[in-house]
Amino acid sequence: MVAFPRPSVCLLYWTRQPISKSVFLQSQRRLLSFTLSRHNDSHLNDDKNRKKLKNVFQTNSNKAVRKQKTKEDLARERFEEQLKSSNRFVRWGAIARSEKFSKGMTKYMIGAYVVFLIYGLFFTKKLFARDKELERLLKKQEEGNINEYETLRIKELRGKLRRRDELKLEEYEKMREEGVENFDDVYVQSFDQNKLNEQILPARDTTNFYQGKASEYDKAINMEEKVIFLGKRRKWLMKHCQGDVLEVSCGTGRNIKYLDMSHINSITFLDSSENMMDITHKKFRNKFPKYKKAAFVVGKAENLVDLATKGKSPQENETSKQVKYDTIVEAFGLCSHEDPVKALNNFSKLLKPDGRVILLEHGRGQYDFVNKMLDNRAEKRLNSWGCRWNLDLGEVLDDSDLELVEEKRTHLGTTWCIVAKRKGDVKKKSELGFVEKYLQSSIRKRMESFEGDNGTESKQQHEPVSSINKN
Ligand SMILES: C[S@@+](CC[C@H](N)C(=O)[O-])C[C@H]1O[C@@H](n2cnc3c(N)ncnc32)[C@H](O)[C@@H]1O
Repeated sequence: MVAFPRPSVCLLYWTRQPISKSVFLQSQRRLLSFTLSRHNDSHLNDDKNRKKLKNVFQTNSNKAVRKQKTKEDLARERFEEQLKSSNRFVRWGAIARSEKFSKGMTKYMIGAYVVFLIYGLFFTKKLFARDKELERLLKKQEEGNINEYETLRIKELRGKLRRRDELKLEEYEKMREEGVENFDDVYVQSFDQNKLNEQILPARDTTNFYQGKASEYDKAINMEEKVIFLGKRRKWLMKHCQGDVLEVSCGTGRNIKYLDMSHINSITFLDSSENMMDITHKKFRNKFPKYKKAAFVVGKAENLVDLATKGKSPQENETSKQVKYDTIVEAFGLCSHEDPVKALNNFSKLLKPDGRVILLEHGRGQYDFVNKMLDNRAEKRLNSWGCRWNLDLGEVLDDSDLELVEEKRTHLGTTWCIVAKRKGDVKKKSELGFVEKYLQSSIRKRMESFEGDNGTESKQQHEPVSSINKN
């Protein structure tokens, strides 16, 4: 029989306390060595008794110890339960909170950031190279010694290639592959879609057609416009109206309801069909019965300059007394003109400095399958609506004296929203894109200072302002 010394009382007392297992075992071990040393000298001298005593302590230490669960234990148990949950959102939530996942995510984030940085570097370098090439070509253009290939390249760099330009560039690429490097005095055949595509029907005078169509026009077109939410586009068109405004091909005045007269000084409506114009006149007077500075002119856009100078002496026409406009708007008119390029050139002549031409038109789309559909129904459309809806408007715009400020296309590219200005006028700050406004100049400065630092090129060799902004 082993008589336990006093520390065993402590042991019993400690087993009831909520202590950690390791602390408990440590205390037991210390107690064992203390007891052994005490009994070594006295009545526990023989090995048998020593083993016995050891066994007692060992059994005691192996006994399940009832300890309270810590917060961490509870959290771990809950986490494991959630991982096994039948609800996938609970399971995903648990995975997302796991340490493994967050470590993995950190790696992904760092990886993505590195990729982003590398991409950014290449993008910036490419942008800068394009900008410099464009600047060099524009300078050549200004000096008047630019070849056809370089003219097309300018368009490509500005992201404004038409179908005919793409086809021409393909020809140049073929020549390049054959070893031709200098394209001075080299010209490639014309690929003009509006001339070569037989399904784009020849232009015609549509005055009589619209004279007959006027009474049924609004009723017939209402549904079509509602289906494609055209009201939103008309609103876009008319919100540009400010100062002295000219609306060409006003038709039955379908844009009148979007007019905000608070920004308008005067308004002139023009249409070649008198019957269409009568309806415009009625609608305008219904909405603005007392507005005085409104004129309603029956005539063709192709004769606009003559109409504007009618009754004025040659001196008046030379001077600022000539009628000019801040805003010229036109909706779905170019497709029904006899000579759309001439009409646009007239707009350019009648614009005040910093004035804008705003167009909402329909024409060829951005996809071949759409263009095929338009081509196949071109004749039917012309007969029922008097318009050439498959016209390549890009070509018409590029052939005119106007310069594009904005070109947005919707309805698979068939609806064209255009803002244009006179050639040489400067873009307004609000018209500059994000890249032009914030990135181009700062990229240029950084790259140039970098080049300057390396002594490869000096800053003085470059023009101070990007020519893109000038045009
Ligand atoms: C398709 S309608 C568009 C009417 C209106 N702008 C609209 O958005 O509903 C075409 C209009 O252009 C007119 N038009 C056609 N050729 C014209 C020309 N050369 N000069 C001025 N107006 C013309 C027609 O009389 C007709 O009113």
